[in-house]
Amino acid sequence: MANVLVTGGAGYIGAHACKALAQAGYTPVVFDNLSTGHRAAVKFGPLVVGDLMERAAIDAALAEYQPIAVMHFAALSQVGESMQDPARYWRENVMGALNLIEAALAAGIDKFIFSSTCATYGDQDGVVLDETTEQRPINAYGGSKLAIEQMLRDFAPKGLNHVIFRYFNVAGADPEAEVGEAHDPETHLVPLILQAVAGTRGALTIFGTDYDTPDGTCIRDYVHVSDLVEAHVAGLEWLIAGKSSEVFCPGTGAGFSVREVVAAAASVTNGPVPMQEGPRRAGDAVRLVCGSDKARTRLGWTPDRSTMPQMLRDAHRWHGSDGF
Ligand code: UFG
Repeated sequence: MANVLVTGGAGYIGAHACKALAQAGYTPVVFDNLSTGHRAAVKFGPLVVGDLMERAAIDAALAEYQPIAVMHFAALSQVGESMQDPARYWRENVMGALNLIEAALAAGIDKFIFSSTCATYGDQDGVVLDETTEQRPINAYGGSKLAIEQMLRDFAPKGLNHVIFRYFNVAGADPEAEVGEAHDPETHLVPLILQAVAGTRGALTIFGTDYDTPDGTCIRDYVHVSDLVEAHVAGLEWLIAGKSSEVFCPGTGAGFSVREVVAAAASVTNGPVPMQEGPRRAGDAVRLVCGSDKARTRLGWTPDRSTMPQMLRDAHRWHGSDGF
């Protein structure tokens, strides 16, 4: 079975990608510094505890496992934190990616899958966001991810073929609850709602109810994590088939407001969601919805678990499990 190096494979999306890779017949080799990831989330292949800031550690992992491709999930990923400490985001995200890209090329690897973000678009309310939309990030997180996209384009002529996925909002958990979402601190809407329902934290605060949307709350495009990682496996197979470097926006095209997610969660959990209304959160875009079907038509991707009730049911099952 061919090995695939999965940086950040102990994290939320990376751990789900490892399961999808294993199911598709690959061996995921996790490279993770465990700063935010969980050792117990690494269930589908070996774990190398290492840091992307150390080129020698990457070289050693590539020499030992000889992967055919790299999936690069590892990153600092909190918008607010990136505004507090932009240097850390620029240093760790960008330098880490540069080390990884150089090491991959030196090891003769020619396939690279990268987790980018709709945060590279900035705030473009009203604009349908797709692969052709101009990127104008408004925070250091989005800026650092855009820099890595550019880096990949610059290295493509050196022989590193790539697929870039610009994520929208990722939710849900493995339907078998082998892995799930466990951030510390938790900042994401769905786990915060489920924890509020379970009473393991206080009421959810809705960040802003005076936006120019039908119910006054922000709108996002949510995709099921299991569907998202299926896109990554399809991206890997796209590169294995010798196809060109591409960018895909794996969204659903459906937008849900914060209040709509809360209402759906109340229905799925059969319980009220303790909540209060609060002020806007700095840096939040009003509406982030993906208008592209390129991933469906070109990659043959079908995000069939990405309905709001299904994402909430799967996340709820995971949150009711023992976790990591
Ligand atoms: N929200 C609340 N209360 C909370 C938490 C979130 O009302 O306690 C709202 C947010 O204001 C936002 C929506 O729920 O309107 C979703 O918020 P999340 O924090 O779950 O997700 P974001 O849309 O802020 O962030 C996601 C990814 C980031 C990525 C960003 C791109 O998690 O990594 O999309 O804008 F950068």
